Amino acid sequence: MKVNDILSDAPICAMLEKYASSSKLRLHMPGHGGKTLENFCDTPEGFLSALFRILPYDVTEIDATDDLLSPKYSILESEGKCAAMYGSEWSFFSCQGATLCLQTAVCASYRLKKQMGVPSPTFLCDRMCHKSIVNAMAVLGIEPMWFDPRDSSTYRKSDVVIVTTVSYYGEVFSDTDSLRSFFGDDTVFIADNSHGSHLMFTDRRDLHPLNKGFDLIIDSIHKTLPSFTGGAVLHCAESFMRLSGVKNEGELREMILSSMRLFSSTSPNFLILASIDLALAEVRSGISAGMSIPLNLASDMIRFIGDRLKDKFGFFTDDPMRAVLRGDHDMAALVRHLEQRSIYTEFYTDTEVILLFPYNMTRADAELLLEALESFETSGVYTPSDDRSPLSLPEKRLTLSEALEGTWEPASIFEALGRISADVYAPYPPGIPVMMPGEVFGEEECNKLSKQFPIVRVLKK
Ligand SMILES: Cc1ncc(COP(=O)(O)O)c(C=O)c1O
Repeated sequence: MKVNDILSDAPICAMLEKYASSSKLRLHMPGHGGKTLENFCDTPEGFLSALFRILPYDVTEIDATDDLLSPKYSILESEGKCAAMYGSEWSFFSCQGATLCLQTAVCASYRLKKQMGVPSPTFLCDRMCHKSIVNAMAVLGIEPMWFDPRDSSTYRKSDVVIVTTVSYYGEVFSDTDSLRSFFGDDTVFIADNSHGSHLMFTDRRDLHPLNKGFDLIIDSIHKTLPSFTGGAVLHCAESFMRLSGVKNEGELREMILSSMRLFSSTSPNFLILASIDLALAEVRSGISAGMSIPLNLASDMIRFIGDRLKDKFGFFTDDPMRAVLRGDHDMAALVRHLEQRSIYTEFYTDTEVILLFPYNMTRADAELLLEALESFETSGVYTPSDDRSPLSLPEKRLTLSEALEGTWEPASIFEALGRISADVYAPYPPGIPVMMPGEVFGEEECNKLSKQFPIVRVLKK
């Protein structure tokens, strides 16, 4: 694959190349003026050298460069290419991660339902949602009902339904038929697919929510595709336009962009934008080079490793690019064993280690990992178990807004037992809330939070 072929399909990168080589004097932000600091310092090495070389491409939004929040030129073109490869009606880029896309989707669906004559749109939200969704709802004064999309007994009629379609542990939610038959066509379905942007380019593309009837879909490109941290995309499916009943497409587009403007910085980072542009061009170049499934090679290697280790670890998840090592082993020792071989993992607990495989995984990477896992001495063998427990929620005393507006005081996590939370508490990773504002701390919640949140904010009595 030729680098120049990839670049010729990346409009934002092409714009930056042209601007960097043609601008002699920049009388605009950012303050470095695009000049490499090499002009003023000793010859840098390593990270500094890379940073200095990149400065000419770090620009702001002027006519020559385009504006993410009202795109007309290179950004619009790149978003159009993204929409075509995913099969969405429109795709909107974000340099503030999936967080900004989720805030935009919550706001846009709320405003759309209001526009359609629903006075107080109702939201049913996956309890396993990222805290950015809770924050967006709190700011907009939305009081959600919680549910577990895998348990139809928790379904309640509502105007907007939010589902985390891929969990941190690689579980993919795909039973949209049950959802659709319960909720019908007037409901807006939002998919937080942050951990699954790559699914569209694996042999499980059927699992991507754009192929599952969702209306607004959030892909956090930086998590599993090769963009810089912060790169994400909000896809709007054709079904969203249909259910909106809006005749003028431009109006609907503008409503989504104006929802994004409510939460976004007015200075989006062009280096992140260029990295989304390039990452997607790289995937497209794989497709046009005849790899109908660009991630096949990596997922084949992962399958091979998982099969070789099947007596030692639980390994496979629904997501072909993620594995969770499970088993009756000392996981901290396993992580140390891997680190001694310079292998660093995503996250681990006492019972599991999460591995995220990179888009560009090579055969040498796979061999390194396999050798390391095979040489880890284990006593027990792995026996799978299915211990999915039903959704259990702490007692709720106040609404999100009531709790966020109340007066609070700090308390140690164990003093908080029986008190009402004034904040969202979501241990990171994966950032899934254990406590919502307005809920009462129980023993289980205090235990879960004690490590990361020794002090919490509770409402004054
Ligand atoms: C399920 C889920 N949604 C959204 C996010 C936020 O993503 P970002 O960091 O791209 O803003 C995360 C972050 O880990 C997540 O796990």
